[in-house]
Amino acid sequence: MNEKKTILSGIQPSAASITLGNYLGAVKNWASLQDEYNCMYAMMDLHTITVRQTPAELRKNTVSLLAQYIACGIDAEKNLMFIQSHVPAHAELAWILNCYTQMGELQRMTQFKDKSAKHKDNINAGLFTYPVLMAADILLYQTDLVPVGADQKQHLEITRDIAARFNSIYGDVFKIPEPYIGKESARIMSLQTPTAKMSKSDPNPNGCVFVLDDIDAVIRKFKRAVTDSEACVEYKEGKDGVNNLLNIYSSVTGKTVEEAVNEFAGKGYGDFKMAVAEAVAEELRPIHEKYNDLMKNKDYLESIYKKGAETANYMSRKTLTKVKKKVGFVI
Ligand code: TRP
Repeated sequence: MNEKKTILSGIQPSAASITLGNYLGAVKNWASLQDEYNCMYAMMDLHTITVRQTPAELRKNTVSLLAQYIACGIDAEKNLMFIQSHVPAHAELAWILNCYTQMGELQRMTQFKDKSAKHKDNINAGLFTYPVLMAADILLYQTDLVPVGADQKQHLEITRDIAARFNSIYGDVFKIPEPYIGKESARIMSLQTPTAKMSKSDPNPNGCVFVLDDIDAVIRKFKRAVTDSEACVEYKEGKDGVNNLLNIYSSVTGKTVEEAVNEFAGKGYGDFKMAVAEAVAEELRPIHEKYNDLMKNKDYLESIYKKGAETANYMSRKTLTKVKKKVGFVI
């Protein structure tokens, strides 16, 4: 074993493409961690079925998500990528941890409250115990660090609580994971409602840019981005639309927000939005190219997720066996 710390994260294959928010807020940063850490990234399909899916689409989206990870710079040689449902230990550990999690704790989760309000016709038990499965994902690999956005912080907190509770009964079984706070991990907001996080379920289709959107659509969405009536490119409180565009620009160009503000001094919003659109288009073009190549090579993608499952199955067995022994199962 080497001394590198373990990082684990993942995205649900619940859409045909990840969003620009997923990319700039998460995946782009993951790529920069691959030399310093042991990184594991899963396609979280078990979580995805907490909301009803079309089977053929889920299958397609899962493989597509792997291709998107790779196209966005996650090196398949340096990172372990796998499909969550290929590693039964996740579901097994989740069941066990369910018995060490209180209803009251789960009732407090804001994502559960939001999702059950949104899917009133399907408030299933999986939606309720979603954070326990996420805890299992993380604890199974003795993960040190979990790069998560603000919306997943509460889930990491409950993971730590569950782990600490289990450890207090049975001794040191789980490593208590910490959040990984990226240096300048961007929080990307909707282009139409810049006070809300960019999300694939934005009621306005122009609010969310998908990484796999064609370039024309990307440009169109940026041209329609909501700004304000001041006509001055400045980063300040209350200018949510402009601030978001500046963050996006800074994130794709590597320039600081201050540099960007100087660059657009005296320019109108039309020019500014066009420049942001072009910068994003430039970032996405090579990703599209790589993605299209990968999707032509399904055998290669299959070899990656098969190898990933094999390694993840091997790695997860150690923790799961220890847990089973501790709770009193016959091994
Ligand atoms: N719940 C996360 C999300 O929707 C996805 C996820 C599932 C995850 N399991 C995880 C993220 C484990 C980090 C670690 O974004």
